[in-house]
Amino acid sequence: MANEIRFGIVGLGMGRGRANLIPETSGAKLVAVCDIWEERGKLAEKELGCEWIKDYDQLLKRDDIDVVGIFTPSGTHGQFLIKALQAGKHAFTTKPMDIRVKVCDEAIELAEKKGLVLAVDFGLRYEPDNHRIKAALQQGAIGKLIAAEMSMKWFRAQSYYDGGKPAGWRSRLETEGGSLANQAVHFLDLLLFWLGPVKTIYGKKGTFAHRIETEDTSAGVVEFQSGTLGTIFSTTCSFPGQGTSITLTGSTGSLVWHDGKVSLFERMKQPAAAEGEKPGYVLPENAPAPEPEQLNLVEFPSPKDLPKNIIEDMVAAITSGQPVQCDGKTGRESVALFCGLYLSSDTSQPVTLP
Ligand SMILES: NC(=O)c1ccc[n+]([C@@H]2O[C@H](COP(=O)([O-])OP(=O)(O)OC[C@H]3O[C@@H](n4cnc5c(N)ncnc54)[C@H](O)[C@@H]3O)[C@@H](O)[C@H]2O)c1
Repeated sequence: MANEIRFGIVGLGMGRGRANLIPETSGAKLVAVCDIWEERGKLAEKELGCEWIKDYDQLLKRDDIDVVGIFTPSGTHGQFLIKALQAGKHAFTTKPMDIRVKVCDEAIELAEKKGLVLAVDFGLRYEPDNHRIKAALQQGAIGKLIAAEMSMKWFRAQSYYDGGKPAGWRSRLETEGGSLANQAVHFLDLLLFWLGPVKTIYGKKGTFAHRIETEDTSAGVVEFQSGTLGTIFSTTCSFPGQGTSITLTGSTGSLVWHDGKVSLFERMKQPAAAEGEKPGYVLPENAPAPEPEQLNLVEFPSPKDLPKNIIEDMVAAITSGQPVQCDGKTGRESVALFCGLYLSSDTSQPVTLP
């Protein structure tokens, strides 16, 4: 293998942003981009000084490419991953890993068999604060976790669903899930990262404000394997948009996360203030409560060698064997979760995840 890890990127919408990172990443080289959209391909070729290849199969035939990054419509990710792995390339895809679990399983098995790196690009996994939160929860900073609520209230216009290449792919069941699979999957992955696997899910989905086959709103109740209860809500109908909140309730405190910022992180002073009975009658709701104590996220660790993005992550994984932030098995979990909610909605039954 050459000294530098040599990348090929397919799909130049979101993929263009990731391709831009490669020339500025130590140990990485952008060899080629691939897109059926000539205008995007030629522009990237000119601006990034790499080659534009129209046909994905031709990109895979290149023996000067070590890693393929996939940024095509979501329902194609699994097949594109499998083809890349079959061609002997390390591979990663943008979120979601795919919109079907079966094809994720095939890719995972193939990567294991061939000893290749398989990763899913979830930007929130490269944020140090999200690792600090995980460490805080593991250390019991807010006690035993009782509940987790995720609420994503975003807005997407009809033109968002009508656009893209091929036009309208975001609106079709064949190529996209819906607000849960496409947008909220970032936060499903974050919940799984913080709280561990989900045992069961019960949910409902619906299409309320867009002309699309997929859902634009969904609501679900989950039980994590740990016993923690959760709710998940996602919509792209919320104008003007209220962002995403995750609220964690522990037995001794709470943490509230909103759009990447922690707005509340408090627990009871330990040990809880032991106030004796006061003379006379006190309304029960006014009985003494424990004193609150502010917690500070910077006091919890984040990994020192945390890559800044998927490109750094792939370079580290291939050159030094460091595990990627989200491998295939982990990427599959959020796919199983949103597929579980869709199935639950279609059958009106809770779904137990394997
Ligand atoms: N991480 C994030 O925050 C983030 C943000 C936006 C999109 N995405 C993901 O990126 C993916 C693409 O979304 P987008 O918004 O960039 O869509 P897009 O429609 O703008 O871009 C998709 C690109 O893929 C190309 N393409 C389609 N089929 C192809 C094929 N067979 N061979 C080669 N090129 C092909 C299209 O020509 C187009 O340029 C989706 O899976 C989406 O979920 C991730």
